[in-house]
Amino acid sequence: MFDFLKKVRFRLSPRRKQVFTWLSIGESQYPLLVVDNFYNNPDWVAKLAHGQAFKNPHGKHINGMASVAGNKKSINRFIFKHFAKQFGVQRFRDLVGDSGYHKFYRSIPSGADLPIRREDPHSDGVFFIAGVLYLTPDEFCKGGTGFYRYRATGAEEKPPSPAWFNQHRVPDSVIKALGNYRPYRAYHESGYKSYDEFIQCIPFKTNGNRYHLSSSNEHWELRQLVPMKYNRLILYPAFTIHKAIYEEADFDGPPENRRLTENFFFKYPKSR
Ligand SMILES: [Fe+2]
Repeated sequence: MFDFLKKVRFRLSPRRKQVFTWLSIGESQYPLLVVDNFYNNPDWVAKLAHGQAFKNPHGKHINGMASVAGNKKSINRFIFKHFAKQFGVQRFRDLVGDSGYHKFYRSIPSGADLPIRREDPHSDGVFFIAGVLYLTPDEFCKGGTGFYRYRATGAEEKPPSPAWFNQHRVPDSVIKALGNYRPYRAYHESGYKSYDEFIQCIPFKTNGNRYHLSSSNEHWELRQLVPMKYNRLILYPAFTIHKAIYEEADFDGPPENRRLTENFFFKYPKSR
């Protein structure tokens, strides 16, 4: 397809049609932005996605993944303007995402033979900002995205270490913006000798025990659930502990009725 045509069809709804809801995550009150009516033509986007060959990445992801080349400048600009700025990102060019590819994830039916069937509450590693756009038709929407707190330590996030920030030359404006948030305050006040020691008290994927959660359990408390809704984008700091919330059997219907999301990831900016 001609690139310009794709650009038109990936166009965002006009701002007056988009509905913004600001929420905050857990005790730390991390900002979480929900934008309804995000795409101007979500039906076209969903159809394009379903037309791709979904693969199970590395054979170890719970969802199938497909990507489509396309210009994402207007999306990235939107995320810069409405979300990244408050995390100290000062210039649009400092926000680095996947500018050339739209990445889609689709759930796999519960009967499928997969090496991994579950997802733990997790942070997105060294990513900075994450976004999930839901493309499941409203009548099949179930669950959404959940944000968790680890009961034993109260941890709601797992950010990279201050040493990592140094190494990657993350600008002062970003560090300053993040400094208002709890992990850094908690670390400085915790008495732990090193950040690594502090952060390692949060168990992830311990002994291969995976928590297939759609609510809370004895280890994890579900603090916030953003319900799935067609053409809804949610934006959150990638270091918060979260997971996709759904039951395996919720999406056993035909591919068009399954959990389909477009996912966005941005890296921490680097000082120039
Ligand atoms: Fe994630």
